[in-house]
Amino acid sequence: MRTVVGLTGASGSIFGLELLKRLPGEKYAILSRWGQHVLNEETDLGRDDVESLCDRLYYDADLSAPLASGSNAWDTMVILPCSTSTIGKIASGIADTLVTRTAAVTLKEGRRLVLCPRETPLSGVTLRQLATLAGDGVTVMPVSPGWYDRPSSIDDIVDDFVNRVLQILGVEIPGGWRAGELEGIPRALPSERVPEPGN
Ligand SMILES: Cc1cc2nc3c(=O)[nH]c(=O)nc-3n(C[C@H](O)[C@H](O)[C@H](O)COP(=O)(O)O)c2cc1C
Repeated sequence: MRTVVGLTGASGSIFGLELLKRLPGEKYAILSRWGQHVLNEETDLGRDDVESLCDRLYYDADLSAPLASGSNAWDTMVILPCSTSTIGKIASGIADTLVTRTAAVTLKEGRRLVLCPRETPLSGVTLRQLATLAGDGVTVMPVSPGWYDRPSSIDDIVDDFVNRVLQILGVEIPGGWRAGELEGIPRALPSERVPEPGN
């Protein structure tokens, strides 16, 4: 499994860091200029910390990096957190940074692209762009943790969302809301069946 993680200038860098920490397999990262700025604002961490969590960290301005070419194979690109600016560029085919070029390559090569936007409220422009991208097969996962497990810390909240991203990438994560309830469930007796609406 070879994954590229882009960290852009939306709030929530800590989600991207946790994903890098827990992703199995080979992992490459790109930290945008504003991604680095937000990381410095929101945490005590910096570029070196991101570098320590992946096989190789690239500069967003480095369009000569191997990730800029479809000749190099990776399975999935995840952008977490993903800014609305980066969404707009990807949706309109602009590839003037390594994050947006790698996303464009991921799309043209028919590989999996997962975008995790973080913005609120969302404009009609961004919503239309996300709908277009979803129609093209992109997985759109807004940074929106669940509250089923009654999180008691920021770590719990981050874990919950990162677990969902890892599950989407096919990584087996034990647990989760009502997980396993479908395993070995006996067929419902006729008397237990829920009637179709209207019957
Ligand atoms: C502290 C800070 C927080 C930001 N938070 C967000 C955000 O949550 N969502 C967003 O779409 N943009 C946010 N921005 C704006 C982006 O960083 C800006 O649009 C930037 O151009 C994105 O560039 P990039 O996508 O290449 O990283 C924020 C900027 C700053 C300085």
